[in-house]
Amino acid sequence: MAGTKTFLVFGGTGQTGQHFISIVLEQGHKVRTLARNPSKFSYTNPALEVHQGSISDAYDLDELVKGTDFVIAMLGDATQQREQKINTEFVRRLIPAMRRQGVKRFLYQAGGLSRPPDRRLSPVLWTIRKTVARGYNGQHQDNEAVMSYLADEANDIEWIVHRAAIRSNGPSKGVLKRSRTKLSVAPFVDCAAYNYATLLHPSAIHTCDLSRYET
Ligand SMILES: NC(=O)c1ccc[n+]([C@@H]2O[C@H](COP(=O)([O-])OP(=O)(O)OC[C@H]3O[C@@H](n4cnc5c(N)ncnc54)[C@H](OP(=O)(O)O)[C@@H]3O)[C@@H](O)[C@H]2O)c1
Repeated sequence: MAGTKTFLVFGGTGQTGQHFISIVLEQGHKVRTLARNPSKFSYTNPALEVHQGSISDAYDLDELVKGTDFVIAMLGDATQQREQKINTEFVRRLIPAMRRQGVKRFLYQAGGLSRPPDRRLSPVLWTIRKTVARGYNGQHQDNEAVMSYLADEANDIEWIVHRAAIRSNGPSKGVLKRSRTKLSVAPFVDCAAYNYATLLHPSAIHTCDLSRYET
């Protein structure tokens, strides 16, 4: 297909990532992905290239990044992130590899309860984070460190952060649009579709926005 692009996906075996890879393949593009457990892919596809490994390994990121057009991370391990900022450590190695390989565009999926640099969470979101979602505080702190790193040290990269609000693996509820202040709780499939559309859209570069359904 003319205009075929290659997407490098981290977190491709996850709940958002699986939908994201399906969308990219359906659109006729190629996917390269790093998976701790490649057997989680229950299908094979000539356009899907799976490498076995963990983001915490000393994996050759230059080899993974080389020749790709877009990089996306829908990564998380809430248990590990209580102890260690594994995503931040990884993104700090990934961005220099992207620079060396001349790959510019990067989307990172964080959470709606992760506070972007120089902004506050609304009192409602802050209360949710401190109460029902407190088990994910380490994940949000890791996401916040990633956002700070990108904003402070990586503005030569076309980074985009999606602060997603996800609840279920149910069917699509519509099309999510970018929003600075409002969010909709969406199923994974809609977040994946949003990530795909947003990654291709230059207006989202250097934003850490939420997503919501148009009313
Ligand atoms: N789930 C939510 O409700 C929600 C809501 C808002 C925002 N978010 C944000 O979105 C991100 C992704 O969420 P999700 O629910 O789609 O993810 P998920 O289903 O928990 O999957 C996480 C992905 O990250 C991968 N991963 C974790 N540690 C890894 C490592 N060391 N090396 C390689 N891969 C690793 C997992 O691989 P394995 O398959 O090997 O475990 C999996 O593919 C979260 O981190 C969070 O910041 C999530």
